[in-house]
Amino acid sequence: MQIQENISLRQYNTFGIDVRARYFSRFTNVDELAALIEENHKLKKYILGGGSNILFTKDVKGLVLKNDIVGVEEIKEDDNYVYVRAGAGENWHRFVQYCIQRQWAGLENLSLIPGNAGAAPMQNIGAYGVELQEVFNSLTAFHIHERKVYNFTAGDCAFGYRESIFKRKYKDQFVILNVSFRLRKHPVFHTSYGAIQQELEKMGVKKLSIQSISQAVINIRSSKLPDPSVIGNAGSFFKNPEIPKKQLDALLKTYPGIPHYPAKQYVTSAVPGKDLVKLAAGWLIEQCGWKGFRRGDAGVHANQALVLVNYGSATGKEIYDLSEDILHSVHKKFGVLLEREVNIV
Ligand code: FAD
Ligand code: EPU
Repeated sequence: MQIQENISLRQYNTFGIDVRARYFSRFTNVDELAALIEENHKLKKYILGGGSNILFTKDVKGLVLKNDIVGVEEIKEDDNYVYVRAGAGENWHRFVQYCIQRQWAGLENLSLIPGNAGAAPMQNIGAYGVELQEVFNSLTAFHIHERKVYNFTAGDCAFGYRESIFKRKYKDQFVILNVSFRLRKHPVFHTSYGAIQQELEKMGVKKLSIQSISQAVINIRSSKLPDPSVIGNAGSFFKNPEIPKKQLDALLKTYPGIPHYPAKQYVTSAVPGKDLVKLAAGWLIEQCGWKGFRRGDAGVHANQALVLVNYGSATGKEIYDLSEDILHSVHKKFGVLLEREVNIV
């Protein structure tokens, strides 16, 4: 475990922000992690996965620890389910494909999400009608200060919309080591998200399969979202806001076309709420005139206003300042406060 000094993090974040880490090291198992933490106990630690949900706004003064724990293992199976464990450093989409090839169902709607398996529970990743919590079984995580490994069930994780206990009460306290999933041997297809139906028809799919759903999701995502290897971004920059039904009724009087959806209720949510509806942040931002906006190398994507982009050499601060301006203008026009989804460092 070599510790590098003053290295650029540009290749380690999909926004392509060129900040420096004072110290940087990789670990491939819990013993290496424990040793690195022990030997560098005075330094602040920052855990890095694939860097696809982070905006670095300044140099990182402490020790960046890149989680490279790999390995996929079938733990057990019964008549209906396969239980499979992935190391936190496994690439998410490769893991999804591995499961699909074996006919293990449940992850197909989550195809092509960038990043690693270990970060998936952090914000309970979701797309096209499915969230991680629906296939999650358990995880193990290392407590940085106690230097002990804990097991977490779904209930322990307090999953919500782009939320978990690791983003709230246990923020910066745990390093997720591996995640286990409960996947179906007999698939249940999730095609209610409108775009999936349309894409399956376009593909001419007659008989549904987890492969065809995965391909439909890949097609939709590739047509809508900018590829980080071409243009820096971290996916949706803000969450879709959840507001009380009463507030929506008032907004509908002025904006009858405002897209809205019932907000999902989470049993163990870290942020519980009753009678909430969800708005489309991309629509709100577009209505404020930001879609396709560019200031220097920081911009708002021309096809998806919820995605902020780095055209080349934007700084994290420039992107953050743009997000601040967007946030204020949406608040001014609609009285709705957006919350950032991307982790700001
Ligand atoms: P990182 O960005 O490295 O880390 C994210 C956070 O988790 C950081 O705070 C980090 O400190 C922490 N962390 C990472 N690994 C660990 C660990 N092992 N233990 C403890 N803490 C850890 N997300 C969705 O939910 N749905 C989408 O549809 C979606 N689409 C996207 C599309 C694009 C083009 C991009 C660029 C991003 C998209 N995202 C989406 C966001 C992102 O891909 C996910 O949040 C992903 O899970 C982040 O994984 P990562 O390994 O890159 O995490
Ligand atoms: N919209 C606009 N203008 C825009 C963008 C969107 O009007 O510029 C409208 C669309 O017309 C549609 C609605 O907003 O009515 C929703 O758009 P879309 O289906 O593209 O999804 P989204 O709400 O923008 C969310 C997730 C994505 C996820 C997709 C698919 C959040 C914050 N984002 O995006 O997740 O992939 O749904 O499920 O929940 C991410 O988290 O990084 C991410 C990409």
